[in-house]
Amino acid sequence: MNKVALTFVAATFLAAGSYARAQGVPKGDAEAAKGKITMCIGCHGVVGYQTAFPQVYHVPMIAGQSPDYLAKALQAYRVGDRSHPSMSAVARSLSDQDVADLAAYYGKAR
Ligand code: HEC
Repeated sequence: MNKVALTFVAATFLAAGSYARAQGVPKGDAEAAKGKITMCIGCHGVVGYQTAFPQVYHVPMIAGQSPDYLAKALQAYRVGDRSHPSMSAVARSLSDQDVADLAAYYGKAR
Protein backbone atom coordinates (compact mmCIF):
# COMPACT_ATOMS: atom_id res chain seq x y z
CA MET A 1 0.00 0.00 0.00
CA ASN A 2 1.38 3.44 -0.83
CA LYS A 3 1.53 6.34 1.55
CA VAL A 4 -1.57 8.06 0.22
CA ALA A 5 -3.65 4.93 0.56
CA LEU A 6 -2.35 4.37 4.09
CA THR A 7 -3.24 7.91 5.08
CA PHE A 8 -6.69 7.43 3.62
CA VAL A 9 -7.25 4.20 5.53
CA ALA A 10 -6.01 5.79 8.77
CA ALA A 11 -8.27 8.82 8.25
CA THR A 12 -11.26 6.56 7.63
CA PHE A 13 -10.64 4.69 10.88
CA LEU A 14 -10.21 7.91 12.81
CA ALA A 15 -13.40 9.31 11.33
CA ALA A 16 -15.31 6.14 12.17
CA GLY A 17 -13.99 6.27 15.72
CA SER A 18 -15.03 9.84 16.34
CA TYR A 19 -18.39 9.15 14.75
CA ALA A 20 -18.99 6.35 17.26
CA ARG A 21 -17.90 8.62 20.09
CA ALA A 22 -20.15 11.42 18.87
CA GLN A 23 -23.09 9.02 18.79
CA GLY A 24 -22.10 7.98 22.27
CA VAL A 25 -23.81 5.54 24.53
CA PRO A 26 -27.23 6.85 25.48
CA LYS A 27 -27.53 8.12 29.03
CA GLY A 28 -29.72 5.90 31.15
CA ASP A 29 -32.87 7.36 32.66
CA ALA A 30 -34.19 5.31 35.56
CA GLU A 31 -37.54 7.16 35.48
CA ALA A 32 -38.07 6.31 31.82
CA ALA A 33 -37.38 2.66 32.58
CA LYS A 34 -40.46 2.44 34.78
CA GLY A 35 -42.61 1.96 31.70
CA LYS A 36 -40.24 -0.69 30.35
CA ILE A 37 -39.75 -3.04 33.25
CA THR A 38 -43.15 -4.71 32.88
CA MET A 39 -41.49 -7.28 30.66
CA CYS A 40 -38.73 -7.96 33.21
CA ILE A 41 -40.54 -8.17 36.54
CA GLY A 42 -42.35 -11.34 35.56
CA CYS A 43 -39.02 -13.11 36.01
CA HIS A 44 -36.61 -10.78 37.77
CA GLY A 45 -39.12 -9.37 40.24
CA VAL A 46 -39.71 -12.64 42.04
CA VAL A 47 -37.10 -13.63 44.59
CA GLY A 48 -36.01 -17.20 44.08
CA TYR A 49 -38.10 -17.58 40.93
CA GLN A 50 -37.08 -20.28 38.49
CA THR A 51 -38.14 -20.63 34.91
CA ALA A 52 -39.42 -24.06 34.07
CA PHE A 53 -38.81 -23.78 30.33
CA PRO A 54 -36.74 -24.97 28.59
CA GLN A 55 -35.20 -26.25 31.78
CA VAL A 56 -35.38 -25.31 35.43
CA TYR A 57 -33.31 -22.19 35.57
CA HIS A 58 -32.46 -19.78 38.33
CA VAL A 59 -33.25 -16.22 37.43
CA PRO A 60 -30.35 -14.04 38.61
CA MET A 61 -30.84 -11.04 40.86
CA ILE A 62 -30.25 -7.96 38.78
CA ALA A 63 -31.41 -5.26 41.20
CA GLY A 64 -28.50 -3.33 42.67
CA GLN A 65 -25.89 -4.61 40.24
CA SER A 66 -23.67 -2.08 38.55
CA PRO A 67 -25.47 -0.35 35.66
CA ASP A 68 -22.38 -0.92 33.52
CA TYR A 69 -22.50 -4.63 34.11
CA LEU A 70 -26.24 -4.80 33.43
CA ALA A 71 -25.92 -2.86 30.20
CA LYS A 72 -23.05 -5.08 29.04
CA ALA A 73 -25.01 -8.22 29.89
CA LEU A 74 -28.04 -7.00 27.96
CA GLN A 75 -25.90 -6.02 24.97
CA ALA A 76 -24.25 -9.44 25.08
CA TYR A 77 -27.65 -11.17 24.84
CA ARG A 78 -28.62 -8.79 22.07
CA VAL A 79 -25.66 -9.53 19.84
CA GLY A 80 -25.51 -13.23 20.74
CA ASP A 81 -22.29 -13.21 22.80
CA ARG A 82 -24.41 -14.56 25.59
CA SER A 83 -27.40 -16.66 24.95
CA HIS A 84 -30.43 -17.81 26.83
CA PRO A 85 -33.75 -18.50 25.06
CA SER A 86 -35.87 -15.95 26.93
CA MET A 87 -33.21 -13.35 27.68
CA SER A 88 -31.95 -13.28 24.10
CA ALA A 89 -35.50 -12.75 22.84
CA VAL A 90 -36.18 -10.03 25.42
CA ALA A 91 -32.86 -8.26 24.77
CA ARG A 92 -33.31 -8.26 21.00
CA SER A 93 -36.52 -6.28 21.45
CA LEU A 94 -34.67 -3.48 23.31
CA SER A 95 -33.16 -0.34 21.81
CA ASP A 96 -29.84 1.14 23.02
CA GLN A 97 -31.86 3.67 24.97
CA ASP A 98 -33.98 0.91 26.57
CA VAL A 99 -30.81 -0.91 27.65
CA ALA A 100 -29.36 2.27 29.17
CA ASP A 101 -32.62 3.12 30.97
CA LEU A 102 -33.10 -0.41 32.32
CA ALA A 103 -29.48 -0.59 33.48
CA ALA A 104 -29.89 2.75 35.29
CA TYR A 105 -33.15 1.59 36.88
CA TYR A 106 -31.95 -1.80 38.06
CA GLY A 107 -28.64 -0.33 39.17
CA LYS A 108 -30.59 1.80 41.65
CA ALA A 109 -33.24 -0.77 42.54
CA ARG A 110 -32.95 -2.83 45.70
C1 HEC B 1 -38.72 -15.29 30.95
C2 HEC B 1 -38.01 -14.83 32.12
C3 HEC B 1 -37.16 -13.55 31.96
C4 HEC B 1 -37.57 -12.31 31.51
C5 HEC B 1 -38.96 -11.89 31.02
C6 HEC B 1 -36.42 -11.44 31.62
N1 HEC B 1 -35.34 -12.14 32.09
FE1 HEC B 1 -33.44 -11.42 32.37
N2 HEC B 1 -32.81 -13.30 32.79
C7 HEC B 1 -33.60 -14.44 32.91
C8 HEC B 1 -32.75 -15.60 33.16
C9 HEC B 1 -33.22 -17.04 33.34
C10 HEC B 1 -31.42 -15.13 33.17
C11 HEC B 1 -30.13 -15.94 33.34
C12 HEC B 1 -29.75 -16.41 31.95
C13 HEC B 1 -28.29 -16.79 31.82
O1 HEC B 1 -27.77 -17.50 32.68
O2 HEC B 1 -27.67 -16.35 30.84
C14 HEC B 1 -31.49 -13.67 32.96
C15 HEC B 1 -30.38 -12.83 32.94
C16 HEC B 1 -30.45 -11.46 32.89
C17 HEC B 1 -29.32 -10.56 33.05
C18 HEC B 1 -27.89 -10.97 33.32
C19 HEC B 1 -27.71 -11.05 34.82
C20 HEC B 1 -26.34 -11.45 35.26
O3 HEC B 1 -26.15 -11.59 36.48
O4 HEC B 1 -25.44 -11.62 34.43
C21 HEC B 1 -29.79 -9.29 32.95
C22 HEC B 1 -28.99 -7.99 33.06
C23 HEC B 1 -31.21 -9.38 32.71
N3 HEC B 1 -31.58 -10.70 32.69
C24 HEC B 1 -32.06 -8.30 32.55
C25 HEC B 1 -33.39 -8.39 32.16
C26 HEC B 1 -34.21 -7.25 31.81
C27 HEC B 1 -33.74 -5.79 31.90
C28 HEC B 1 -35.43 -7.74 31.43
C29 HEC B 1 -36.62 -6.96 30.91
C30 HEC B 1 -36.36 -6.13 29.74
C31 HEC B 1 -35.37 -9.20 31.57
N4 HEC B 1 -34.11 -9.54 32.00
C32 HEC B 1 -36.42 -10.08 31.31
C33 HEC B 1 -34.97 -14.47 32.81
C34 HEC B 1 -35.76 -13.44 32.31
